[in-house]
Amino acid sequence: MTAPEGGQAALRKAGRRARRLDARDPLAPFLGRFAPVPEGRLHLDGGSLGRLPAATPALLDRVVRGDRGGRLTPVGTQWRDLPQRIGDRMAETVLGARPGEVVAGDSTDVNLHKLTVAALAARRGRRTVVVDDDNSPTDRDVVAGVAAEQERALRTVHTHPDAGLDMETLRAAVDEDVAVVVLPLVSPRSGALLDMAEVHEIAHAQGALVLWDLSHAVGAVDLQLTATGADMAVAATYRHLMAGPGCPALLYVRRELQPCAGQPVDGGYGHREQLAMRPRYDPDPAVRRFPTGTPPALSLVAAEPALDLLAEAGMAAVHAKSRALTGFLAELAGAVLEPCGLRPAGPAVPERRGAHVAYRHPQAGKLVPALAEAELFVDFLPPDRVRLSPGPLSTRFADVVEAVRRFREVLAGFGADGSRCPSAGAYRRGP
Ligand SMILES: Cc1ncc(COP(=O)(O)O)c(C=O)c1O
Repeated sequence: MTAPEGGQAALRKAGRRARRLDARDPLAPFLGRFAPVPEGRLHLDGGSLGRLPAATPALLDRVVRGDRGGRLTPVGTQWRDLPQRIGDRMAETVLGARPGEVVAGDSTDVNLHKLTVAALAARRGRRTVVVDDDNSPTDRDVVAGVAAEQERALRTVHTHPDAGLDMETLRAAVDEDVAVVVLPLVSPRSGALLDMAEVHEIAHAQGALVLWDLSHAVGAVDLQLTATGADMAVAATYRHLMAGPGCPALLYVRRELQPCAGQPVDGGYGHREQLAMRPRYDPDPAVRRFPTGTPPALSLVAAEPALDLLAEAGMAAVHAKSRALTGFLAELAGAVLEPCGLRPAGPAVPERRGAHVAYRHPQAGKLVPALAEAELFVDFLPPDRVRLSPGPLSTRFADVVEAVRRFREVLAGFGADGSRCPSAGAYRRGP
């Protein structure tokens, strides 16, 4: 059997398997809880916004029309308390953290800046900050900026771009001079998922703190921050938390660390008694002191409907579905796309994978817009990566099969040397 014929057979077999998997998927009904997208569109874009819950537009409409002033009646709380209230819901629903440990506010970068400063304050006397070379450039820039400003040493460990960070490499980099280790739980590039407890064990053995970026994990991976003894974390909320454009990031500090973790921007909303106009800064003793400035109430309210969905589904089930989807995708892509020139660029074992699967192709930058023409939305990571990220509550196994089928047709339009082949047939909607 030739490679193309083998691909067709694998797709047919996967189609039958997908029908069985979808039929017994306990999370399948959640697909109907999202705002509809145009017929045939497949959204597997790990860099872009998560799907819009169907309840969000009506909720925002009620909030805007009902009362834009003091009380946001549909959520039944004072709008000034929203960072803490939404934070508590995130803690309970998706983080496995305790009340008073999480706030929603500011952006991921700003929170990372604040918590790097806080970690250095909590580990006074230690001079080194550890980062890895695989995290998003923005995270590395923020941490490097704090280290430079505070005249600390920045120690960069090398992470394998596909397999993820090796624990022995990390162990060798953490000594008694390290104040904090800053890492992404799921690598933005490869999708490699770290073992949180193992990283804690390595850092804590030397008295160092760990500051996680959970941006690619939260809402897809079943996180247990309290149970695994996590110190600090930040995350963007617009991806698998589906909180929408402009939604503030989250920030977590373990309760026991809060008394010694100061934040670098003193100001009115961080006060113990907000707006009391005290003559001196008197910070809130808990995590509520971290967000700076007037809370973006409408964006915060927009985070609630997705949290409702995730709470109802349960994170253990969401994570299991995410793993099943990425495993199914990787297996099918191995049979259908890899023989056509796509190279796997993430961990081979499903347990080491976060919520996206990464591939390499020499013309990835042209491939991704060509896939979008075929209504398959994935994302491009320069110089040569393609990421596919199936949202656990909004993707069917049948969607994965259709995505791989379209990918294969588009890939056929690219020559073996990576050049786009002008004579190749355009994408045709499938059988
Ligand atoms: C890993 C990571 N770090 C930082 C950011 C930047 O987030 P923000 O724009 O909220 O600062 C993102 C954005 O999604 C991200 O994925």
